[in-house]
Amino acid sequence: MPEQPIQHIAICPGSFDPITNGHLDVIRRAAELFGRVVVAVAEEAGKQHLFTAAERMEMARTACVHLANVEVDSFSGLVVEYARRRQAVALVKGLRAISDFEREVQMALMNRRLAGAIHTVFLVTHPDYAFLSSSLVKEICSMGGQIDELVPPGVAKQLCERLSPR
Ligand code: PNS
Repeated sequence: MPEQPIQHIAICPGSFDPITNGHLDVIRRAAELFGRVVVAVAEEAGKQHLFTAAERMEMARTACVHLANVEVDSFSGLVVEYARRRQAVALVKGLRAISDFEREVQMALMNRRLAGAIHTVFLVTHPDYAFLSSSLVKEICSMGGQIDELVPPGVAKQLCERLSPR
């Protein structure tokens, strides 16, 4: 019987409040590198989010529907514990600018200390999205600015419904 290729699993963790085209670019490239990618929406009960975990998951699911080896899930608690449960080999994070670097390296080193077998892989964001963040998108939308090219189509609609000045 021919040997089955090993399907390495990677986790793309984040708040995804909401998912942006920058996130999607990183997820799409992670899906080229790994056999299976789990977009893991952090529930983070104590944190203020615009969208509920269920809403954030639904938007991510719709945005990733064309990526066959990508699934969307949610997690609470430590991301490395979740990664262990999912038998993942890596956490994949996007790096936009030097401003991301310090916090991301700190988290990567702490996660390495907690779970040495799980690697953090950084993908440098596409230059088109280097300026993009969920917070900025929310701010622009709340002030009536155009966000159509910054987030997946369904997300723009949902954001506008929740945030646009009437
Ligand atoms: O999209 P964000 O807000 O930058 O995502 C941050 C996230 C959710 C990936 C990070 O806060 C996280 O991993 N939270 C889970 C709790 C945890 O494991 N904390 C220790 C990290 S060293």
